Amino acid sequence: MSSKADGATDKTTHFGYQTVNVEEKAERVADVFHSVASKYDLMNDLMSGGVHRIWKKFTIELSGVRAGNRVLDIAGGTGDLTAKFSRIVGEQGQVVLADINDSMLKVGRDKLIDHGIAGNVQFTQADAQYLPFPDNYFDCITIAFGLRNVTDKDLALASMFRVLKPGGRLLVLEFSKPKNTLLKKAYDAYSFTMLPLMGKLITNDADSYRYLAESIRMHPDQETLKGMMKTAGFSEAKYYNMTGGVVALHKGIKA
Ligand SMILES: C[S@@+](CC[C@H](N)C(=O)[O-])C[C@H]1O[C@@H](n2cnc3c(N)ncnc32)[C@H](O)[C@@H]1O
Repeated sequence: MSSKADGATDKTTHFGYQTVNVEEKAERVADVFHSVASKYDLMNDLMSGGVHRIWKKFTIELSGVRAGNRVLDIAGGTGDLTAKFSRIVGEQGQVVLADINDSMLKVGRDKLIDHGIAGNVQFTQADAQYLPFPDNYFDCITIAFGLRNVTDKDLALASMFRVLKPGGRLLVLEFSKPKNTLLKKAYDAYSFTMLPLMGKLITNDADSYRYLAESIRMHPDQETLKGMMKTAGFSEAKYYNMTGGVVALHKGIKA
């Protein structure tokens, strides 16, 4: 990596199928979520036919979170997981809804307050790569459909490992790679035609949903992500395929 006089670097990464400078990636991801924030929940329900709720329910079940726990929902966006954790941890517990994007965070905060949920929830603007929390702080961390968008995923996994308590769990819910060839073909056809079309009709933004389809294909597959979690220090790393591997839930423990 070489440095330029203005502090920028020549290091590149991918934004969907495009190769971009690392600084540009963060800006382009930010543009996507500023653009989609107000219609994010509606689009999630439409694109998945509501099935994202089942994926998230399974994540909550596997988290083992109990009353009194301290939970971080990083890249938490509009707060679906945070809302559920808030009820489980109760008055003695705490949930931090953190996201790098202030538009997503604002939609999430307004939604939770409207649902009377904000009492034990703290809202924090933070980058998953550089978490602003003490070592050994959380009982559980979730990152749902967020890791795919992070520039340096290894850095983010190491940061999450640092702020988890010993015995704490990380759950990574993310799009992954279906194994069945027929399902893969149908899923590809759906992703590259229907998602941009729905994006255009509902948010007047086809590009953000084209990025969604491309970023899913560029994300590490199930085994690769499991290996990355082990490298970051997580033990008992394992994953559960859902909807034929369209989505996978990875779980790791900080021993
Ligand atoms: C697809 S949304 C997921 C929101 C929510 N977790 C859910 O499952 O509905 C991805 C979120 O990741 C956030 N994000 C992207 N890069 C991030 C980073 N480096 N650190 C923290 N959040 C990030 C985005 O702002 C966006 O809110």
